[in-house]
Amino acid sequence: MGQTINGRIGGEFEIDPKYLAGKPQPGGHTPTFGCPNEVWLDTGRSALKLALEHISSAGTSGKAWVPAYVCPSVTHAFKSKGFSVRYYAVEPDLGLRSLPASFATSDKRDVFLFIHYFGRPNKDAVRLLSTLSKKPWIIEDAAQAPFLKSAWVSSDFIFNSLRKAFPQPDGALLGSPHPFAHKLAEPLDPFISKRVLGKTLRHSSEDEEKYLRLFEESERELEKENPPRMISPVSKRLMTQENFSTAAETRKFNYRVLAHALTGMTRVSTLWSDVPDDFVPLGLPVVVARDGRDALRSYLRERRIYCPVHWHLDSEVIEETNSAHELSRRILTLPIDQRYGGSDMARVADEIRKFSP
Ligand SMILES: Cc1ncc(COP(=O)(O)O)c(C=O)c1O
Repeated sequence: MGQTINGRIGGEFEIDPKYLAGKPQPGGHTPTFGCPNEVWLDTGRSALKLALEHISSAGTSGKAWVPAYVCPSVTHAFKSKGFSVRYYAVEPDLGLRSLPASFATSDKRDVFLFIHYFGRPNKDAVRLLSTLSKKPWIIEDAAQAPFLKSAWVSSDFIFNSLRKAFPQPDGALLGSPHPFAHKLAEPLDPFISKRVLGKTLRHSSEDEEKYLRLFEESERELEKENPPRMISPVSKRLMTQENFSTAAETRKFNYRVLAHALTGMTRVSTLWSDVPDDFVPLGLPVVVARDGRDALRSYLRERRIYCPVHWHLDSEVIEETNSAHELSRRILTLPIDQRYGGSDMARVADEIRKFSP
């Protein structure tokens, strides 16, 4: 759907206005997890809150286990639903070697959330949880894995968030084997309208200050205390115009090209050396040595290559786990998405090499 605009690589997905009234594309489809109960909401945090509402009414201890390496919006969603959050440690490569202590698994079960980081299926979590005879409530967080096609058989809930991987301003699918109530609030107008305006401006204008302001303002709307909301009509329409399988193939191709081009660099290394077949990447996470992350990020931004940091952790997590803190200070996500091709990846690698061979 998209392509490189004005030499920019990365950053918020643009919306080409012609797609706002476009017809569904051949090969386009609506994703599903194959769960018996599924509903579309606006954001990942809305989906999580709705899952927590069900869990609260069905019986829980009120204690939630969340990985120390986590998007702050996840922790906030738990807290807003009255859960007390405990962090479990993850390895420096985001793997999981063991489960934290033991869980309450009686009528009042704990909640355990695991994340498919950067689109990579979290096989460690699945393997370790499989060994439990009595399970806590299990929530599978696929917000970074929008191409994941099915839920793990023992998950109670799974959700994604499509706005990170496609032009649509919102859209998150929640799936579960349990029938759950889903009375949803209307879409959040100030968020959707500002986001769509910013995305169409980014498509056609170089007024960076203006569209960045719109993105920030719209994000602040999401950070307010919101009830679970339904997906917006504009996202429903945009979603039918995506070809998910082409996007997935392009991402995998770009990831491999860029990861290969980074081999042997001294200060920048990929977080993972292998690329499993079932891994459709959100981006290419790299670790930057010797406190160079922020400098590299600024250097690339000046050359119109935009890289997010997933994530700046909340201070309370930082106090609890050192390895998550260390990773959060050194990680950078390089863009490999479907807007780009091999020559763009070569440009990203060249610029990184110029910064630090
Ligand atoms: C792992 C993870 N879970 C949940 C969320 C929340 O998704 P949303 O921003 O759509 O609410 C995010 C957002 O970045 C995330 O990265």
